[in-house]
Amino acid sequence: MPYVTEANLTDIARERWNNIPDPRLRQVMTAAIKHLHAFVREIEPTEKEWAAAIDWLTRTGKMCDEKRQEFILASDVMGVSMLVDGINHRLATGATPSTVEGPFHIPNSPEFKDGQDMARGAPGIACFVTGKVRDLDGKPVGNVLLDIWQTDGEGLYEAQREGKNQYMRGLYHTESDGAYVVRTVAPIGYTIPMDGPVGELMKRTKISEYRPAHIHFCLEVPGYHRIVTHLFQKGDKYLETDVVYGVKEPLITEFVKKPAGSKAPTGETMAQPFYEVHYDFVLQKKAAQKAVKAA
Ligand code: BEZ
Ligand code: FE
Repeated sequence: MPYVTEANLTDIARERWNNIPDPRLRQVMTAAIKHLHAFVREIEPTEKEWAAAIDWLTRTGKMCDEKRQEFILASDVMGVSMLVDGINHRLATGATPSTVEGPFHIPNSPEFKDGQDMARGAPGIACFVTGKVRDLDGKPVGNVLLDIWQTDGEGLYEAQREGKNQYMRGLYHTESDGAYVVRTVAPIGYTIPMDGPVGELMKRTKISEYRPAHIHFCLEVPGYHRIVTHLFQKGDKYLETDVVYGVKEPLITEFVKKPAGSKAPTGETMAQPFYEVHYDFVLQKKAAQKAVKAA
């Protein structure tokens, strides 16, 4: 092996990192070196710029704890989280697509029966989400666990509300005919956390830091592909510029505004205006999943 020059360094490093018994780790590390070297060769950073990049990564790491994950946020705003999601959830046409989970899911949410209010007095306009869960053949899927989380009507999640516990999240189950009825409040669009290194970077761009209004769902039942997804409000002004690239067309749905005095899907007459959302989810059986690379 010759001694190092700028021209041969990438080849020498790749050859050294080829010396890994685990084939997957070998593939990952040799690709990482190939692409990292190509990146550095393309941008030709000054030493000061490279030190600034290392400092940004260091501060991103220091911002992470059990409540805050700045590295995931970095991956989200660069579209990498959605790319990983796409690669791992290549579902058949007609199946409800997945989208990014985001950092605000909290496990072990409280259980609610059909029509019970998971907002429990949180600020916002009442919103009823109803529909059915079906399979790709149109057959209803019963006993599906719907794990739901969202912002309140002021754009804040539980983790952003000091002292709140079991806030704006809940577990529901579909009936044997696949039907579900959720009562909540309508979410609103919000900005990603902007007080860390990712926000600092975003502020140097003209990229919107907003996410459109959405409700997060995780649907799970044995025998079917588990999906983590959202429902987005049709007409929201941030749909086309979602900062984390999470909007897929089949997930956009009408939030129909009903005037005071209208009947809710639960049968009660509502004293205040409210929203009705109707959405049917389609799950794919596990065996039917294709591991075909997207075009
Ligand atoms: C969210 O939808 O909760 C979210 C996703 C990615 C980054 C920040 C928030
Ligand atoms: Fe969200």
